[in-house]
Amino acid sequence: MTLPRIVIERCHYLARCTEEPGAITRPFATDAMRCAHELVSEWMREAGMAVRRDNVGNLRGRFEGSGEATLLLGSHIDSVRNAGKYDGPLGVAVAIAAVQRLHDQGRRLPFAIEVLAFVDEEGLRFGSTYLGSRAVAGTFDLADLDRVDASSVTMREAVRAFGGDPGRIGDDRWKGGRLLGYCEVHIEQGPVLEAHELPVGLVSAIAGQSRHRLTFAGVPAHAGTTPMDHRHDALVAAAGFVLAVEREAVATAGMVATVGQLSAIPGAVNVVPGGAVLSLDVRHPDDSVRAASVQRLLAQANEIAAGRKVRVASELLAENRSLDCSPRLTALLSRSIEGSGHPVWRLASGAGHDAVAMSDLTDVAMLFVRCKGGVSHNPAESVTMDDVAVAIDVLFTFLELLSES
Ligand code: GLV
Ligand code: MN
Ligand code: MN
Repeated sequence: MTLPRIVIERCHYLARCTEEPGAITRPFATDAMRCAHELVSEWMREAGMAVRRDNVGNLRGRFEGSGEATLLLGSHIDSVRNAGKYDGPLGVAVAIAAVQRLHDQGRRLPFAIEVLAFVDEEGLRFGSTYLGSRAVAGTFDLADLDRVDASSVTMREAVRAFGGDPGRIGDDRWKGGRLLGYCEVHIEQGPVLEAHELPVGLVSAIAGQSRHRLTFAGVPAHAGTTPMDHRHDALVAAAGFVLAVEREAVATAGMVATVGQLSAIPGAVNVVPGGAVLSLDVRHPDDSVRAASVQRLLAQANEIAAGRKVRVASELLAENRSLDCSPRLTALLSRSIEGSGHPVWRLASGAGHDAVAMSDLTDVAMLFVRCKGGVSHNPAESVTMDDVAVAIDVLFTFLELLSES
């Protein structure tokens, strides 16, 4: 079987590792992730890598080279709820395929390659981001271990139950000597490459993002007996805020902002909601523009809540600055794309990636692969075998150029 077909098949196999039958939902440190680990570690071994897992739960496959420096490749193997097959797994599978090609050719490069399958990029279980890559970069915040999931399990308990030692996540920091950088292949998750009829694109920068949780607190009341002017309806206040978020993003060039979670408490048909909890995700390539918008939105949340006679509290869950990819590695990737016979298209990423966290450790570069209709975070995510073949070739050429540079 050809490597591109193997890559696509592997993404399909991984899709079977899920918490929700009939959908792909693979959160941090769960049985679904254990299932993914079994598959990925087997594929890494087949490609000649020595495999270990670290305390936070990343899988690390190492392919030795003739020299002491290391190049890191990889992406994440967790998912959002009801995800597609390729967001994350494609990058891991393409990285393993590139190493497999070296292994099949009996070749060693002047540097070692370590393929990292990160255990949490999406933050589905704990609302955080980049738990796996932060651990490797040495920026994991130990205070995060006190976060709880929807079942009140702490991250500390989850890490332990998954087989790691939460007290030793600091040891997961890269300690393998000199690094040449980190290169991540990922589906584009947007429509640009398809519009330009290009199989792959070169990522120039990644937008910054903030994630907050807002909790509106009113008074639960009887839906049949409480007159409209006596209510302290937390959900109506939250709804007003959702519209304010949309207005802010539409009025700010280059901004995207999303309320992706919203729950009413107690959540009964005949109870005026006494509570409402929502998520706020704000992104912009310019960090100062993003910060100003977030401030405006939090101030508006207070105004809207006061107008509805409810209270509101906000909590910052994650914040990541925008990032420029490494000119040195990006130039090599650019030459690799040219070598594949395709024009080089540079684009910025609105999505967050492990490369953001890894940039605290080393230089980073990213290659995007066209996806059908730009659809992502959706079961309809799709890539073609031909585009995957280009991605493997480009990554392989990148390894060769790096070994000559
Ligand atoms: C990761 O998928 C993100 O939310 O950007
Ligand atoms: Mn994603
Ligand atoms: Mn992703």
